[in-house]
Amino acid sequence: MNLLREIRARFASALSPLGVEVQPLLELILPSKDAAFGDYQANCAMPLGKRLGRKPREVAEEIIAKLEVADLCEPPEVAGPGFINLRVRDDYLLEQLHTASGDLERLGVESAESPRTVVLDFSSPNVAKPMHVGHIRSTVIGDALCRVLRFLGEQVISDNHIGDWGAQFGMIIYGYKHFVDEAALAEATVPELTRLYKLVNQLIEHHDAKLRGIPELEAKIEDRADALAELESAEPTGDKKADKQAAKKLKAAQTQLAGLRSELTSLTQKVAEVEADPRLSQLAAAHPNIGTDAIGETAKLHAGNAENQALWERFLPACLAEINATYDRLGVTFDHTLGESFYQPLLAGVVEDLTEKGLATESDGAMCVFTEGHAAPFIVRKKDGAFLYATTDLATIKYRMQEWKPDALLYVVDHRQGQHFDQLFATARLWGYEDLELQHVAFGTVMGEDGRPYKTRSGASVGLMGLLDEAVDRARAIADKSEVLASDDERQEVAERIGIGAIKYADLSHNRTSDYVFSYDKMLAMNGNTAAYMQYSCARVRGIFAKGDVDVEELRASGAKIVFSEPAERALGIALLRFSEALERVASDYRPNHLTAYLFELASRYSEFFVNCPVLKAETEELKQSRLLLCDLVARTIECGLGLLGIRTVERM
Ligand code: ARG
Repeated sequence: MNLLREIRARFASALSPLGVEVQPLLELILPSKDAAFGDYQANCAMPLGKRLGRKPREVAEEIIAKLEVADLCEPPEVAGPGFINLRVRDDYLLEQLHTASGDLERLGVESAESPRTVVLDFSSPNVAKPMHVGHIRSTVIGDALCRVLRFLGEQVISDNHIGDWGAQFGMIIYGYKHFVDEAALAEATVPELTRLYKLVNQLIEHHDAKLRGIPELEAKIEDRADALAELESAEPTGDKKADKQAAKKLKAAQTQLAGLRSELTSLTQKVAEVEADPRLSQLAAAHPNIGTDAIGETAKLHAGNAENQALWERFLPACLAEINATYDRLGVTFDHTLGESFYQPLLAGVVEDLTEKGLATESDGAMCVFTEGHAAPFIVRKKDGAFLYATTDLATIKYRMQEWKPDALLYVVDHRQGQHFDQLFATARLWGYEDLELQHVAFGTVMGEDGRPYKTRSGASVGLMGLLDEAVDRARAIADKSEVLASDDERQEVAERIGIGAIKYADLSHNRTSDYVFSYDKMLAMNGNTAAYMQYSCARVRGIFAKGDVDVEELRASGAKIVFSEPAERALGIALLRFSEALERVASDYRPNHLTAYLFELASRYSEFFVNCPVLKAETEELKQSRLLLCDLVARTIECGLGLLGIRTVERM
């Protein structure tokens, strides 16, 4: 039962005779922050009073008179300027808790009445290039959303839209043709391909920095330094506002210049690195056109060149095996993995159709869609005839609509692609997909503790597997300290669950749109809103059953009842009932952090209960049974919640 939704439905009936738009008012009905004000609080009388030109308290009284909640709540109370406070009836609460307790699979959470079909596009790395920490966000957030939406009854089709047709293949093919170590390739394909990719990339970056990046930056820095000097030399005008503005401008100019200088340093370092290495500098000299030549290899692949096609077919399976190993370790699966290459045969048709419909027009030789609110055109075919990321995404929408007829397409992708998705969605609407929900489920950057995008000490972005290994290694220290884990195998298994769980939970517990700081110490802390704490809480509850030698299944079947004898029991009961509200919030704005926040809150309520209410030593047998039932429900709710985040629990730790 979703109590909040039920209460809102009752308010909707009470509010509708007032002849105002009800939905925004319903959003002002929320769980109370302070238990002194009941369990739920409706703050709709204040804006309503203002709109109707009446006293909010009066309006609140009128709403209450019409509100039919007697079966759910104690008589509502009006407080302060016009808050309506609701306290859930204990008998109702207990009844709901019994339903949840008896429902092994769903804990009383109802399934959607009219399920939607949702395509979830997530993870979607560019293969043949090492997956990095950014991809973990898409993978972990997407997987959690997939699980939550499915649990709520939606039809979810998960599709890993891998980049398997991009420029990285041209680079690898170039690398293969010039630098391959066949023996190494035969022994372990992916490490050799990775080496080739990195080498070619390094050489391209080297040339690019020397010929273009560094001179351009130097010119820019000179220009900005002059501008800054001018700002610095300006005398204060005496006008406070103008001076304040000037100071702000000065600060901004300084920051910008510092940014450019650090960019220059990093480019200079890259060049120096190549030049300090005789082998690399020789290679750089021998391959002056590597950038354009690698692009040429990609173009040949796209044009159907037999040799490049064969190389692509040879390399792809190893690349897929590599990413699948990562997914296995993370426990993530997909219904489909339809990468960019899959859509290639459809691209020409997409551009033709857009052109016929008058949506794509020629500009400077390229075919472009102009959409409202965007200065830049959405290019679907380049001057040289090449199709783009945009074209593939349009073909993908068409394919998904034809195959699966979804109600929504969700893309869990880095926020830096915001402009791409804005234009993609605008184009799709023009193209006729008007009733479709299109969402860019964007997320921020993973930052290092130094405040810059997360990198290892050597400066290379961290490979995903290495990242997982390190988390598990560090989690092993926690497992090693445990006195309850019996064998080395068990300690390793627990370390794996804590380590992987820590990375996932850290990612999921941050509001996805903000950047977050990647810190092993923080994510593996035993206290606070972390996976380890939640896993520990759960194991601690289960520990009570072991200690008391209680058979949970017998307990559940015994007909024992939950009763409230202490405020902490009731508070825990309310928290348990809010599970479905938390899940629905996740589904409403695609933010898994509502669920982690809920679980943390539940664990806190449990701690209070644990301190105040002896379980195995309860005063009566009836009370003991009741408290054991509550414990069981807590453990199952945490297990279910973590499970929906893709995180495994442990029996003991
Ligand atoms: N391969 C892209 C990248 O790594 C992400 C693809 C996201 N999905 C999509 N349909 N565009 O940046």
